[in-house]
Amino acid sequence: MTKITHASIVLCGALGLLLGANAMAADVAAGKAKAEQLCTSCHGADGNSVNPEWPKLAGQHAGYLAKQLADFKAGEARQNAIMAGMVAGLSEDDMANLGAYFAEQTGSGGFASAERVALGEQIYRGGNLANGVPACTACHGPRGGGDALAGFPSLSGQHAQYTAAQLRAFRQGHRANDVNQMMRNAARWLSDEEIEAVAEYIAGLH
Ligand code: HEC
Ligand code: HEC
Repeated sequence: MTKITHASIVLCGALGLLLGANAMAADVAAGKAKAEQLCTSCHGADGNSVNPEWPKLAGQHAGYLAKQLADFKAGEARQNAIMAGMVAGLSEDDMANLGAYFAEQTGSGGFASAERVALGEQIYRGGNLANGVPACTACHGPRGGGDALAGFPSLSGQHAQYTAAQLRAFRQGHRANDVNQMMRNAARWLSDEEIEAVAEYIAGLH
């Protein structure tokens, strides 16, 4: 009995070390301080931006956020003039801390305009069989929460204007930081109308 208990404690400890490696490295308080200094003027004090061109970061997966910051800094697969300036002086630790801070904030949610919800929902849940658009729900989940371990971002409640801009960027290959071209393939055959509709649907998803 004692032996089993001891073994399980050791096992749990080892697992905890493995799973917690990222979380342990991140310093949320340091992330908050950095965010207040550099980020919250645009992205909001709690990570909920007001301007629809600036994405909400609140509640997004920490690993996804840190990856975007690293990608902006590398300046190849994801290019943005504003964000390039913001991340130029950030270290890898800063990025992990910022990701951890914004991940802990609560998303403010949003709403979809009624006229487009039907088409948006159809694309999100079923894709478009006729031209090979995959169902978004397969990776981003029925409620838009994504999957932290798989690197699928949360989408729910995001500003429709920002989401639509990203979909157009993936469609034309201007944004190319998606592993295995997952998003470029998903967006390739979306029409402008479908992009607007699915972005509206996502804004109201929770
Ligand atoms: C002057 C306004 C501004 C400031 C300040 C700013 N950002 Fe941004 N941020 C933007 C814009 C605009 C985008 C959208 C870029 C695009 O279209 O790809 C963005 C995108 C992002 C993204 C991508 C989000 C996603 O869902 O993929 C992250 C992460 C991010 N910013 C984090 C930060 C952090 C951390 C800071 C502070 C170090 C910061 N931003 C400062 C304007 C700003
Ligand atoms: C095979 C999996 C997969 C499918 C299917 C998929 N996505 Fe994605 N999506 C991803 C991944 C992975 C990323 C993150 C890429 C990166 O690392 O920057 C992403 C990113 C996004 C982003 C950018 C989020 C942000 O905050 O910048 C949007 C918007 C998005 N997806 C919408 C959609 C929509 C709409 C569909 C359906 C038409 C869809 N996705 C289908 C895997 C998928």
